[in-house]
Amino acid sequence: MARRSKVSIVGAGNVGATAAHWAAAKELGDIVLVDIVEGVPQGKSLDLSQAGPIEDFDSRIVGSNGYAETEGSDVVIVTAGVPRKPGMSRDDLLAINKKIVGDVAQNIAKYAPNAFVIVVSNPLDAMCHVMHHFTKFPRERVVGMAGILDTARYKTFIGRELDVSVEDISAMVLGGHGDTMVPLPRHTSIQGVPLTELLPKDKIDAIVKRTANGGAEIVGLLKTGSAYYAPAAACVQMAEAVIRDKKRVVPAAALCQGEYGYSGLFIGVPVVLGAGGMERILKLDLNAEEKAMLDHSANAVKGLVEALKLE
Ligand code: APR
Repeated sequence: MARRSKVSIVGAGNVGATAAHWAAAKELGDIVLVDIVEGVPQGKSLDLSQAGPIEDFDSRIVGSNGYAETEGSDVVIVTAGVPRKPGMSRDDLLAINKKIVGDVAQNIAKYAPNAFVIVVSNPLDAMCHVMHHFTKFPRERVVGMAGILDTARYKTFIGRELDVSVEDISAMVLGGHGDTMVPLPRHTSIQGVPLTELLPKDKIDAIVKRTANGGAEIVGLLKTGSAYYAPAAACVQMAEAVIRDKKRVVPAAALCQGEYGYSGLFIGVPVVLGAGGMERILKLDLNAEEKAMLDHSANAVKGLVEALKLE
């Protein structure tokens, strides 16, 4: 008899709780919410459990202030951290979230040593390094959620501009999760029709710019927090790909070991997600301009990684 999968979510704030919601709705498995604030993971998990009889899901959802409940998790989604406030860049969060994510990583290594870890805490690519460093997990089991979110923003704006279904858009945004991200219009198509044939350059440039600013646009509107519906949906898509061995091809922050010319660097690249975790990095043909943009983004990530001083 197959046992149920177990998904633990560390950080029961906006992204974490919303991820629990999407995961329960998809019946990905049993769900554990962990947070340092007493009562919050317990209260949210009880509330979400009580949606089960209405929405017809049987996931067992529990909340905890410790890690014992996460034992044997198949997937751990890490959203613990301090979110960006208006005027604060993702990079400002570096020192605070390094300490938080480092602590979470050591607990994951202890309680869920075989888990596939999805990092969401910002600054994303740097926090993947922290997670990889402190769990000592192989690169197949530590990835960062950014590319699916950035790509979803890009597709949303394209869909609106062309008045077509977002389901019919094929696209990927690579690079670090930040202002230097690399949307790829040359590799974007609508059911095979290149975007560059459907929109003039100035419109594409405006969409690319709005995509790169996508997180900040929402922070500016919300004022007291950052985006969470789309980030949560994105990490649940990654969890689902692994739990259901879907072999999804998505952009995600993965540890490059020679791919794209980078060594020992987490950066957003196309990956295959399945039962083996991050099963492989796909090589995309980049022209000189695209590679230069990716290099620029990689350099921004490298700067943060150096500032982390992980020995
Ligand atoms: N262990 C567990 N949980 C923690 C810890 C810790 N050491 N430190 C903080 N938390 C919890 C907070 O108590 C809070 O409930 O993490 C949660 C973060 O939730 P929010 O503040 O609502 O932030 P959210 O919008 O969910 O964003 C989480 O994702 O997109 C990124 O930049 C964002 O790093 C941030 C993360």
